[in-house]
Amino acid sequence: MWLELSDLGLTENGVCIVADVTLKVGAGRTAILGPNGAGKSTLLRLMHGLLKPSSGSLQWPQDLSQGMVFQRPAMLRTTALANVEYGLKLRGVTGAERQQRAMDALRRVGLPELAGRPARRLSGGEQQRVALARAWALEPQLLFLDEPTASLDPASGREVERIIHEIAEAGARIVMTTHNLGQARRIAEEVILMDGGRVLEQTPADEFFRQPRTEAARCFLREEMP
Ligand SMILES: Nc1ncnc2c1ncn2[C@@H]1O[C@H](COP(=O)(O)OP(=O)(O)OP(=O)(O)O)[C@@H](O)[C@H]1O
Ligand SMILES: [Mg+2]
Repeated sequence: MWLELSDLGLTENGVCIVADVTLKVGAGRTAILGPNGAGKSTLLRLMHGLLKPSSGSLQWPQDLSQGMVFQRPAMLRTTALANVEYGLKLRGVTGAERQQRAMDALRRVGLPELAGRPARRLSGGEQQRVALARAWALEPQLLFLDEPTASLDPASGREVERIIHEIAEAGARIVMTTHNLGQARRIAEEVILMDGGRVLEQTPADEFFRQPRTEAARCFLREEMP
C-alpha cells in the first residue's frame, strides 16, 4: 500500500512552500526530518489531504483509511472519553459500541482513569495521548503524526513512543515528523530529509544514520548531533 506523490508543490501568496516532491510513502514507519520551516508539517497536511496542492498530484490507495494527530491537538470542551467518541460518532458508530471502543482506546494509551475528566484541563502529555486514542479508535491504516512528542517531558515522550510502536504493531503505517533524532532512530524504518520545501533524500533509517547519501544530510546530522 503506497501513497504516491508526483511533482507535488504548494505555493501560497507567491511563496513556494513545498516544491517538486516525488516519492512513495506508507509501507511502514517513516520519519520526516529537517530544520524549522523545511516544510515538514505542510507536506504532512498535503499527504493527509488537508491542503490542496497547487501543482503535481497525489494518489492514495483505494479505500485507504487515514488519520492525523497534530502537534498541539485540539480538544473539544468535554470529557476525554467524549473526545475519543467524537470521531466514532462522525463515522456513525452509536451507543454502547461507541463507548466501548472509545474506552478501549483510552485503555490502550494508559488513561482509562481520566475518561471522565474535562479534556482541556489535562496536561499536554495527557492530551497528546487522548489525541492518539482518538485517532487509534478509528483504526486507520495510515496515521500521520506531526511532532508527537515535541513539548513533552522525557517520560511522557517515551510513553507516547511506546503507544506509537503499539499502533504500528497493530498494523497501521506511520508517517511522522520529528526533531528528535533518537526518536527517529527508535521508530522509523525510513527517513525523508527535507529542507527549503524540497525532499533531499529518502533513505532506509539505518543507512541514513550510518551513511547518509547526501552532503546536506551529513551537514544536518552534524548540526543536530554535534
Ligand atoms: N499559508 C502559508 N503562507 C505562507 N507561508 C506559509 C504558509 N504556511 C506555511 N508557510 C511557511 O512555509 C514554511 C514551511 O512551514 P512548515 O510548518 O511546513 O515547516 P516545518 O518543517 O513543519 O517547521 P517546524 O520544524 O518549525 O515545525 C515556513 O517558512 C512557513 O512559515
Ligand atoms: Mg512543523
